[in-house]
Amino acid sequence: MGARTRKAPRTGADAGSEVRRRASAAVSAVLHEGWRLEAALDYEGLGQADRALLRELATGTVRWAVRLRAVLDDLLDRSLPRKEKRLEALLLVGLHQLSHTGIPPYAAVSATVGALTGKQAWARRLVNGVLRRFGRERDDRLARVDNRSPALRHAYPDWLVEALGAGYPENWEAVLAAGNRPPPLTLRVRGDRSAYLEGLAAAGIPGSALDAAPGAVALEEFLPVGALPGFAEGRVSVQDGAAQLAAALVAPRPGERVLDACSAPGGKLAHLLDWAPGAEVVAVEAEAGRLARIRETLDRLGLEAGALVHGDATAPAAWWDGRPFDRILVDAPCSGTGVIRRHPDIKHLRRPEDIPALAARQGALLEALWPLLRPGGRLVYATCSVLPAENREVVTAFLEGEPGARTATPEADWGRPDGPGRQILPGEQGMDGFYYACLEAPEAAA
Ligand SMILES: C[S@@+](CC[C@H](N)C(=O)[O-])C[C@H]1O[C@@H](n2cnc3c(N)ncnc32)[C@H](O)[C@@H]1O
Repeated sequence: MGARTRKAPRTGADAGSEVRRRASAAVSAVLHEGWRLEAALDYEGLGQADRALLRELATGTVRWAVRLRAVLDDLLDRSLPRKEKRLEALLLVGLHQLSHTGIPPYAAVSATVGALTGKQAWARRLVNGVLRRFGRERDDRLARVDNRSPALRHAYPDWLVEALGAGYPENWEAVLAAGNRPPPLTLRVRGDRSAYLEGLAAAGIPGSALDAAPGAVALEEFLPVGALPGFAEGRVSVQDGAAQLAAALVAPRPGERVLDACSAPGGKLAHLLDWAPGAEVVAVEAEAGRLARIRETLDRLGLEAGALVHGDATAPAAWWDGRPFDRILVDAPCSGTGVIRRHPDIKHLRRPEDIPALAARQGALLEALWPLLRPGGRLVYATCSVLPAENREVVTAFLEGEPGARTATPEADWGRPDGPGRQILPGEQGMDGFYYACLEAPEAAA
């Protein structure tokens, strides 16, 4: 990525072009090289306003790339040479600005053309011509693409539209649309939520309470964590409202032994520790590099887990001491299709063949961890997926092989019943798409 880094120039016009250049580098890294967007964004040397603009341009372009690529194909007389990947990305950044932002067209075009430092005149002419033409014919060009298919209209890959159509025959299009709406920045407030909201209001930061999650506050605008009141002191964490429902479902009590089986970066672990300070919580994470993320989370909040284990939760023989757990949280690795509004790169990074492979891992986690539960103990299965193949189908298949297990998912004022659990769809009550299922082990025979 080093080649993409360059210090931001001083003048406003140059800075605007530098932001477009970096946005196109990040978009290209996602679309052509399979990078995660967050890892591809290079903020170095940019001021706060330019950082925000870079984030918006790159995220928005990645969000709408399927639609914008179809628009671009229509606008080009002949395809771009295959090696011109960055040029394609820059054109998409330009089209995004003209389609989905309030940036004045002349400013969008000139800053985008200005990003072509060192490029030949033909490339400048091409970008200038394509963007100006699109600016003149915008509504017609978009309508032509949108009428071709829901996948193009909502900018999703075909396979995902089909999977969501099969899962939600009545409201699949609403699910697609919700995944394109920029999400709120949601916080988990530790302590008095009303007092925190008052502090936000005093600081001029608009925020509101989320009904479904008692500690959740949604901010309308994205802010870097350093600008969040009380963040450094551990008064708040960034955590979606749906993710904040986990602790109440696990509901650990002081003195109980709890397993958080897929723990990094530790958001739900921290909530469990806040919920029951006297519980002994063992956190397991398979990726060694991500253990540091858990430590960072806990250190900032002044919390400590009972144990932090680098291990594979599907192979507990390597790390389990044989003492049963009262509660287990399985926050399984998943497709992330419920959080596409936060991570639009998921549209491009996931492949249809990932889903059965993930479902197999999710089933393996349930099977490996169930024997670690004490009689009468509770296991909570969670994903941030909206695909039934990773949710109700995984849990239903597990229950078929474990007839003693009892479904104990509570009635709730969030989500909808879905097989043995409840499904939240993206955007509902301000939350991400999530699935939760609670299972209880049979009591020991007297
Ligand atoms: C959805 S994330 C968990 C999010 C976390 N619970 C939180 O709230 O911050 C899933 C995590 O499970 C980890 N993981 C995947 N397979 C695993 C396995 N077999 N054993 C343990 N951890 C695993 C991934 O590396 C990833 O960090």
